[in-house]
Amino acid sequence: MPVLEIIRYGNPILTKRAKEIKNIDEDIDELARNMVLTMHSAPGIGLAAPQINQSKRLITVDISVGEKIEDLIILVNPELISQEGEVILEEGCLSVPEINEKVARPARVVIKGYDLKGNEKVIEAEGTLARVFCHEIDHINGKLFIDRLSPLKKNLIKKKLKKRIQTGMI
Ligand code: NI
Repeated sequence: MPVLEIIRYGNPILTKRAKEIKNIDEDIDELARNMVLTMHSAPGIGLAAPQINQSKRLITVDISVGEKIEDLIILVNPELISQEGEVILEEGCLSVPEINEKVARPARVVIKGYDLKGNEKVIEAEGTLARVFCHEIDHINGKLFIDRLSPLKKNLIKKKLKKRIQTGMI
């Protein structure tokens, strides 16, 4: 199984709403497994299919980064069902390297999606797990964490990223 290339800020696929998955077939299964490998080797605690150049509503999450098998979650067509509270914490993204900023996220969430066997999954999460789910669902909706910052902060970061792209650092 190959480790896939992670798409960086500036690629338009990261700003598009990813497509619904209609059939959970062998290709989706393989894609999900390659995403897990890519996420673990990055290392990262979450990955969304657009980040490996696939416009599909598929996310992988593992807050243990491969330490605990029970922490690995693969969700097809995930949706945010409900949210509660707010926590502001520093966040980063494999597609936006070396940028970490404080982002407000719900303290608790309920997520619905499907596993690779097509079984419906409803997951209640809080803390880091809730944050990762929100971050990855944002990805499949074409949103990056920097889009959740104040316009001033976002513009400053965009300028920084633009400079890095121009100098070939991204
Ligand atoms: Ni990300």
